[in-house]
Amino acid sequence: MTTTPTLPLNDGSRLPAVGLGTYPMTDDEAATAVAGALRMGYRLVDTAAKYGNEVGVGRGIAASGVPRAEVLVTSKVRGADQGYEETLRACEQTRRDLGLEYLDLYLIHWPLPRVDKYVDTWRALVQLRADGLVRSIGVSNFTAAQLDRLVAETGVTPSVNQVELHPGLPQAELLAAHAERGILTQAWSPLGRRRLLDHPAIVEAAGNHGVSPGQVVLSWHHQRGVLPIPKSADPARQRENLDIFRFALHEPEMERITAIAGPRYGGDPDEHEEF
Ligand SMILES: NC(=O)c1ccc[n+]([C@@H]2O[C@H](COP(=O)([O-])OP(=O)(O)OC[C@H]3O[C@@H](n4cnc5c(N)ncnc54)[C@H](OP(=O)(O)O)[C@@H]3O)[C@@H](O)[C@H]2O)c1
Repeated sequence: MTTTPTLPLNDGSRLPAVGLGTYPMTDDEAATAVAGALRMGYRLVDTAAKYGNEVGVGRGIAASGVPRAEVLVTSKVRGADQGYEETLRACEQTRRDLGLEYLDLYLIHWPLPRVDKYVDTWRALVQLRADGLVRSIGVSNFTAAQLDRLVAETGVTPSVNQVELHPGLPQAELLAAHAERGILTQAWSPLGRRRLLDHPAIVEAAGNHGVSPGQVVLSWHHQRGVLPIPKSADPARQRENLDIFRFALHEPEMERITAIAGPRYGGDPDEHEEF
């Protein structure tokens, strides 16, 4: 097992280059999975108020024995809590549920353009960072146009945009938009919810490098500058997903994987309503 590299954020912080997803774990599942993952070397954990497992994630962090300062915890503002005052209260609840004085990364879960509160929600995140209650702030499922509106109206660029991204949905245009704006891309459903792992481009690359299909896909993300947050509740697969930094895919392998076309599994950011 190699050590996990870190990736820089536009606010001077750094994040481990891979994290642990926790949806759809229950509190009990999350407590076990997070404690085990932290003990094996994970240092970034992704949760959200909407997942209903922040209490379990917090229990897992406490049980792991890893010092709080070494763990980076992401949570997200749910749709029902959008708005300035609502978001300040939601963050307090999230910190209470996690049992943490501060969050390392706090994201707006979905833009909900029809509700049109994401700019006020963003102002609350800026305030929470100024107050030291969250270290870094970002968004999830935002389009380039929505990112630009945040910057135009507040002057503050998100550090992260966490979006659906996997070989079936490689998001080349959005990655270019993030690079221009200095935003780190996090990939959710980075393994395509395991539905793409038997694709010949992935299976052949796995054979070439003596690794698993999951490791190939996670390396593909890393080599594109993307931070994947694979979910696994299984210790062997958690270990695999962390062990992706000792080999590199060749350019033709990267291109074949990027060319895999598939559907979007989750919501469309311009349409999806999450509360
Ligand atoms: N911001 C958002 O709107 C949003 C939306 C969806 C998800 N997320 C976050 O992103 C995380 C990951 O996304 P996801 O859970 O949808 O999909 P994913 O990570 O692409 O896939 C998870 C599935 O793959 C399996 N798996 C994990 N590692 C594997 C490996 N090495 N080989 C084969 N199978 C493997 C897992 O099963 P086992 O547990 O049995 O290993 C699970 O069934 C979520 O947990 C959540 O934290 C965010």
